Amino acid sequence: MAKEFKRYLVTSALPYANGPVHIGHLAGVYIPSDIYTRYLRLRGRDVLSICGSDEHGVPITIKARKEGVTPQQIVDRYHNIIKKSFEGLGISFDIYSRTTSPVHTVTASDFFRKLYDDGKFIEKTSMQYYDEEAQTFLADRYIVGTCPRCGNDRAYGDQCEKCGSTLSPDELINPHSAVSGSVPVKRETKHWYLPLNEYEEALRKWILEGHKEWKTNVYGQCKSWLDGGLQPRAVSRDLDWGIPVPVKGAEGKVLYVWFDAPIGYISATKELTPDWEKYWKDPETKLVHFIGKDNIVFHCIVFPAMLMAHGGYILPENVPANEFLNLEGDKISTSRNWAVWLHEYLEDMPGKEDVLRYVLCANAPETKDNDFTWKDFQARNNNELVAVLGNFVNRALVLTEKYYGGVVPERGELTDYDRDTIADLGRVKEALENNIENFRFREALKEAMNVARIGNKYLADTEPWKLIKSDPERVKTILNIALQITANLTVVIEPFMPFLSKKLLEMLDIERPSWDSIGSIDLVAAGHHIGKPSLLFEKIEDDVIQKQLDKLEATKKANMAAEAASHIEPQKEQVTFDDFGKADIRISTILAAERVPKTRKLLKLSIDTGIDKREIVSGIAEYYSPEDLVGRQVLVLVNLEPREIKGILSRGMILMGADASGRLVLLQPEKKMVSGAVVG
Ligand code: 2FM
Ligand code: ZN
Repeated sequence: MAKEFKRYLVTSALPYANGPVHIGHLAGVYIPSDIYTRYLRLRGRDVLSICGSDEHGVPITIKARKEGVTPQQIVDRYHNIIKKSFEGLGISFDIYSRTTSPVHTVTASDFFRKLYDDGKFIEKTSMQYYDEEAQTFLADRYIVGTCPRCGNDRAYGDQCEKCGSTLSPDELINPHSAVSGSVPVKRETKHWYLPLNEYEEALRKWILEGHKEWKTNVYGQCKSWLDGGLQPRAVSRDLDWGIPVPVKGAEGKVLYVWFDAPIGYISATKELTPDWEKYWKDPETKLVHFIGKDNIVFHCIVFPAMLMAHGGYILPENVPANEFLNLEGDKISTSRNWAVWLHEYLEDMPGKEDVLRYVLCANAPETKDNDFTWKDFQARNNNELVAVLGNFVNRALVLTEKYYGGVVPERGELTDYDRDTIADLGRVKEALENNIENFRFREALKEAMNVARIGNKYLADTEPWKLIKSDPERVKTILNIALQITANLTVVIEPFMPFLSKKLLEMLDIERPSWDSIGSIDLVAAGHHIGKPSLLFEKIEDDVIQKQLDKLEATKKANMAAEAASHIEPQKEQVTFDDFGKADIRISTILAAERVPKTRKLLKLSIDTGIDKREIVSGIAEYYSPEDLVGRQVLVLVNLEPREIKGILSRGMILMGADASGRLVLLQPEKKMVSGAVVG
């Protein structure tokens, strides 16, 4: 038997306020946590859902510097966008706070101070990169250089975004400061470290022995960290944005963002209720952290070690972390703008909040990375929400309106088929509870949708629209049952699609039935007058999807152009006039073109150079078809030494450039010229 808790404290990873929230965040963290809290509320549990913006840390200072504004301006901007968009999607936090709030500054400072006073930290000096020109220590992110693994010349001191390697600044080739561009030096600096090694045994016992029920990805990551041995971790940084380290001799130092951010959960609870201690200190509280997989170590190892060091706090009962969601086969990335942004979605698709909630839950990366595609979004809307759920409810309500003027008919004798249907409905509650309590939200959603499927099948099998003439009494029973199923839907679907649930309640004109009444067929009384039916979901047409795909295509192109622009090759060694004069470039005309057999890239071109007719082999078959080329004028380096390629003597080179995507493009004279005209 699972332990019963008196109350629940649900936290959702605090999103960085350096950009808006996208579908990856939603599928990974916020949709699951919202389903969980809505479910607990429906069950009448005492639950608080906590979140807020994570407003410190280097990414925010980098963004501010890039835009020439202050970090405060950046976090104000994104905090507001994020908060509003969460509300728009019906994410029902009890509080959405921020780590620049005064309560948080005090809470995080006091937390640090207690650990400091209790002698829980180690003070260590170390050599860190320092930018003498800008007179500042450089966080790893602020050091840029060439990646030793893949050669990317814009790798950061902590990570190469091209090949994904985790790096340390010392590994970078040609490191330089992203602030001033100068070459940094090493300078001594003092920091405070939390000796995680001292908590290793306790953590091992607590997680590896005590929480074998955690998701495999979470348990596995913890095990590998613990097996690898824990090291002291710095909890302060040399930075001018953050919560100042509250001790003497710490000028210019702030709390490390991963020290202050999780304390943000505590501060936000404090801000929400004077009863906050009950939620954080009473072992009768079940604390659950919803996070993405990149946050596992901080929530399962570092933060719990901080809480242990402080004393008096409970530890999380579970940390359900999801894997990542990709977008159209590619990793979602804020910096590359490869994302579906929540605030844009809400603007582009008004009234379709639940569709996104539905698709992201149905396709959530619970056990492995998953892909979001707009085609799948369209298919799930059209084939599941419209064709099953919408169709069922619409039929039940419209037929009630049509046959009985909107008054719920009396139920007569039940048939065996009715009883089977009701039995199916009766199985949903336990399945839902079992799945949600164990963080299997995809399965849970299937169970909730099953209620609509049961209803849809019931109407399709009993065909009340045919029976109305021959057996009108039977139709009363059928529609009564269909309306009871609809009433069941209002509860089971609420955690997943709260807007729909509300609309259904309005349409049935009933109060929300209790969670415990799921499975009952006495939720709408005979004689009750239901409200007016209206459309629940509309079909999404191809052009709507195409618009979204076009948006992504434009992003892709912009990224490629930016990438190409940032890789302009450096100028070659200087040449003299004489050197250049040696190259004989002529306007030439292509007379014939054919593929070189057994090659993918090569074309054999017959060229009129004005001087003679000759053959040139060129690697452009991927970009031009032979018939496109005949008659074109091109620029040819005619005195290049001949070369045999695939048995053909190629005499000269056709001049080309590469566009942003790397495609070869022929260079042509602006107007028709005589073949043989000299270029230079
Ligand atoms: O990964 C992130 O987006 C972090 N801002 C999450 C912080 S969670 C918590 F500890 F605050
Ligand atoms: Zn790399």
